[in-house]
Amino acid sequence: MSSIKIPLTPRVRELDLVDKVAVVTGASRGIGRAIAFNLASRGCSILGTATSDTGVAAIAKGLNDEVTSRAFEGTSRQRPARLLITAVVADIFSTECASIITEEVTKSFNGRVDIFINNAGAIGTDTIGEMDVNHVQQSLLANVQTPVMIVEEFTRRHFFQPNSRIVYISSIRSHFPWSEHLVYSAGKSAGESLCRTWAQAFGGKDERYSFMAGTTANSLSVGLTETDSMMNCPPDILKQLQNEFYPSQSMPRFGQPDDIADIVGLLCSSDARWITGCVVSASGGGIKIGSG
Ligand SMILES: NC(=O)c1ccc[n+]([C@@H]2O[C@H](COP(=O)([O-])OP(=O)(O)OC[C@H]3O[C@@H](n4cnc5c(N)ncnc54)[C@H](OP(=O)(O)O)[C@@H]3O)[C@@H](O)[C@H]2O)c1
Repeated sequence: MSSIKIPLTPRVRELDLVDKVAVVTGASRGIGRAIAFNLASRGCSILGTATSDTGVAAIAKGLNDEVTSRAFEGTSRQRPARLLITAVVADIFSTECASIITEEVTKSFNGRVDIFINNAGAIGTDTIGEMDVNHVQQSLLANVQTPVMIVEEFTRRHFFQPNSRIVYISSIRSHFPWSEHLVYSAGKSAGESLCRTWAQAFGGKDERYSFMAGTTANSLSVGLTETDSMMNCPPDILKQLQNEFYPSQSMPRFGQPDDIADIVGLLCSSDARWITGCVVSASGGGIKIGSG
């Protein structure tokens, strides 16, 4: 792996998301945690999800404490009194996932959602010639059905606010086919397509969704990123991935979770109000939009 690391400059963020509520799936570790930190450090309340009580504690206690110490203590900014960081176990492989999250949003945030980050995903190999029907169904359940049902619940209950933000964490893999990732690629491509349709429906043209006009929906084409799921791959696979992706990347290194979180953070700002229905490349140039 490349030894080139770009140091991230710590900076005091604008408190531009005070009184807003974000739902971030898979917020206990990796990219989801970095996204939740970015949003919370700007004053946004968070409902994070994880798979176990340990993951819930990593958000409700660990992330909460880290936000206080890294984003507010020792600065001129006071942590907003209403900034709440809470969490719930909600497995994306369960058909109950959307209703569990909906119930928690109702209980903790009085049915308000300004930002939905679909981050947790079915990760793992699906090799052509080796899959059974259960594997295919589970992968599509996690990467397609669950995010659809979460957005369905938030829409039908009018949880979404005007100018809300939907971000689906996709993968560079949907554009770089590999026989070991057949259904994963298809699921992520479907997520990109969902965002195009949500963008079209929620922008303000359709009277049925006028309560959430101005809402944007975008996906992120995420490249190699240094998280548990990636770094736990066997060394030969890591090397293979590096050999596959570095030649097309402009910056030949693994991304850090903060690299991805900063892009999501930008999409969640009011500055990004005119970006909708896009697949945003978050891969150090691994995909150059318009070059294909
Ligand atoms: N890392 C990369 O190189 C890369 C590249 C392209 C795309 N992505 C995408 O980025 C997203 C995040 O990946 P990551 O690398 O940050 O993963 P990660 O470091 O392994 O973190 C996974 C997070 O998702 C949660 N999670 C795992 N399984 C879950 C389930 N069944 N239900 C609900 N939550 C679950 C985990 O909770 P617990 O702590 O409870 O386990 C944890 O918070 C995924 O959609 C992935 O496809 C990653």
